[in-house]
Amino acid sequence: MGVHICNRFLKLHNGYLLPSVGLGTYQLLGESVCEVVDKAISLGYRHIDTAHSYNNESEIGDVLKSRIESGSITRTDLFLTTKVPDILHEPSDVLEGVEESRAKLKTKYLDLVLIHHPWTMRKNGQRDLKPMDSKGELQFVKFNLQKTWRSLENCVKDGTVRSIGLSNFTIGQIQNILDGCTIMPANLQLECHAYLQQKSLHEFCKARDITLTAYSPLGAPGRPEHHRFTDQPVLLDDPIVDSISQAHRKTKAQILLGWLVQKGFCVVPKTKSEKRLTENLEIFNTNLSNSELVKLQALDRGIRYFKFKYMTGHPEFKPAEDF
Ligand SMILES: NC(=O)c1ccc[n+]([C@@H]2O[C@H](COP(=O)([O-])OP(=O)(O)OC[C@H]3O[C@@H](n4cnc5c(N)ncnc54)[C@H](OP(=O)(O)O)[C@@H]3O)[C@@H](O)[C@H]2O)c1
Repeated sequence: MGVHICNRFLKLHNGYLLPSVGLGTYQLLGESVCEVVDKAISLGYRHIDTAHSYNNESEIGDVLKSRIESGSITRTDLFLTTKVPDILHEPSDVLEGVEESRAKLKTKYLDLVLIHHPWTMRKNGQRDLKPMDSKGELQFVKFNLQKTWRSLENCVKDGTVRSIGLSNFTIGQIQNILDGCTIMPANLQLECHAYLQQKSLHEFCKARDITLTAYSPLGAPGRPEHHRFTDQPVLLDDPIVDSISQAHRKTKAQILLGWLVQKGFCVVPKTKSEKRLTENLEIFNTNLSNSELVKLQALDRGIRYFKFKYMTGHPEFKPAEDF
């Protein structure tokens, strides 16, 4: 994994610095995303994580543009991550998607663009993100993502994107990209938290200088209904995390985030509360002892909150493997 610079940044293989706490923006829309991003910038957040499919790039771009124009930040202070959706994997669609994201985010360049998922779906005229056929079945497509990757490499070469990476990929799927790439992935974004510690992907990526961003680092307690299943324990209710938090006079969220950052991950917690925005940034002085690290490590239970069950049957959906 990239060299750690005081844990506040991760150094990517190409030298760019990724702030190790970013603002997650999934499920933040309209006025709400504007308010949260603006507050977050005031509080010191400089890394924003969005995606074509979050439907909020335009609002985020408005806030950042006005902040830059008012002189309170500069573009180079910011690190903007977005993601190419499953329906735009064809090379020409990738370019179109990146151009759209740049236009919406009102920026000359994107810091990091990820392939959001390895499963491709057929684009229709309405550009539905979940395109269905007449029988109501999702329109799956088998597609070699080396082609998508080459298109992203061209965006790096023409300067519209600085770094490129992957999300929700298995080791085999990452290896497929490595086998055909001229520019290495700089980052893998994956679900990762105390209940899903992702040891095999962590080791694989560390050995190849691919940094890791943990999504849903708090266990995604606010995830949508279609991602909820019975018998899924709530990470933020864990008694071990609670006892460690009391010993440090920190909140449970701060322990969960501080622990991931101490291990060298980037985290992108999402919150719409100002108090929690502050809390989630104040994690850099969380020095966990060896015995606490052992206790947290023992919480690994393979519990995945985002199961993507609706992708069952897609050739690139591999729920039996780590991703
Ligand atoms: N690449 C992918 O496929 C993928 C998938 C999922 C997520 N992501 C990214 O990762 C980000 C974070 O993941 P996530 O939103 O699923 O889950 P998360 O950050 O683990 O959890 C967010 C939830 O936790 C609550 N929360 C935030 N801070 C808290 C605190 N200090 N104490 C208690 N509760 C707190 C929030 O509620 P309030 O808002 O009410 O505070 C919200 O309901 C997303 O926003 C997105 O940017 C990427």
